[in-house]
Amino acid sequence: PFYLYSAQTLTRHFTVFDKAFSPVPHMVCFAVKSNSNLAVLSLLAGLGAGADIVSGGELFRVLKAGMPGDRVVYSGVGKSAAEIRMALENGILMFNVEGLQEMDAISREARSLGVKARISFRVNPDVDPKTHPYISTGLKKNKFGLSVDQARKAYFRAMDDEWLDVVGIDCHIGSQLTEVGPFVHALRRVKDLVEELRAGGVTLDYLDLGGGLGIRYDDESPPGPDQYASALVEELAGMDLTLILEPGRVIAGNAGILVTRVIYTKENGEKEFVIVDAAMNDLARPSLYDAYHELLPVTRTSKGKRVVDVVGPICETGDFLARDRAMPALEPGDLLAVRSAGAYGFTMSSNYNSRPRAAEVMVMGDRYQVVRSRETFEDLVRGEVIPPWLQGR
Ligand code: LLP
Repeated sequence: PFYLYSAQTLTRHFTVFDKAFSPVPHMVCFAVKSNSNLAVLSLLAGLGAGADIVSGGELFRVLKAGMPGDRVVYSGVGKSAAEIRMALENGILMFNVEGLQEMDAISREARSLGVKARISFRVNPDVDPKTHPYISTGLKKNKFGLSVDQARKAYFRAMDDEWLDVVGIDCHIGSQLTEVGPFVHALRRVKDLVEELRAGGVTLDYLDLGGGLGIRYDDESPPGPDQYASALVEELAGMDLTLILEPGRVIAGNAGILVTRVIYTKENGEKEFVIVDAAMNDLARPSLYDAYHELLPVTRTSKGKRVVDVVGPICETGDFLARDRAMPALEPGDLLAVRSAGAYGFTMSSNYNSRPRAAEVMVMGDRYQVVRSRETFEDLVRGEVIPPWLQGR
């Protein structure tokens, strides 16, 4: 199996999104967790994108892809001291701080490096994004951010800390949102807090609204970037803040597919199975969220349809790409395209069942390049050691 990304589609998605916000000062920080391949990051960096990162590993990748540190925002509830240091050393634009202990840790690291850390607090606005519970993040029961009351106190504490430079406010309520309503509700809550903070003498330059705009996998009809942007821009009128957005899925999701080959077909009297060479270790979304991904034969066919489960070789019942799906009759050797796999596809893949991870390929017009080679068996055991006291027994 291999992932295939279209450079042209990535470019178009980024440009349309970026343009939609042109009425206001803004910065589009691509959510690296959705697709962290160096070629993808480098392409987006070249278009002027920044990055939303959640780990030292992601920071390493964006720097390697040529993204300047001052276009990076860093979110996440568990930033380690070493990761904070690395981010400070590379002069990131700001930390989106999710807790008071984390704030203290950032201050400590800043002091020891003799630099000021730019921070914003991530506010949890307690708004229901109406998406899958695993990917909703802006509800009180979720682990993310600080409540409005906590954030208020945190801002005043941070203002008194000479190693912290309070520059913004942040919120991200969830992913794969298919309506603008929840974004607008969250923004209103944040806006009220901004006004209150400003009245109390806090200066804020950035408003980070996170990512979360949904895409069409099946029959969803999410708002387009224009609709999303105009709803937010309208709410922002007169706020005098630079807007930061952290889109991931809407840029990369429909710019990539996963290509897999049919190994066998079989039926057991009750069900028909199409067994393909990609599995839940390659694309976890169907197993993890019961997510729908359209499957298309790579070669057009007029064969009649039959209802099948498309499954991988992994030893788990949850290993499927589609269940009870009407598909044209397939035979061993046929290739299938799994659509909408450019975001949270490869980045969530694993080596479960000791399966080497798939290759990644980028295509631009009539050119293509393998942008990550298929893993080998040697890659699987890299770093593993048999203790000397187990050897030669
Ligand atoms: N910013 C923050 C702080 C986030 O946590 C996320 C996603 C994003 C931005 C980007 O959201 P997007 O624009 O891509 O919706 N693995 C799941 C999605 C998890 C999203 C986690 N956070 C999936 O496959 O659907």
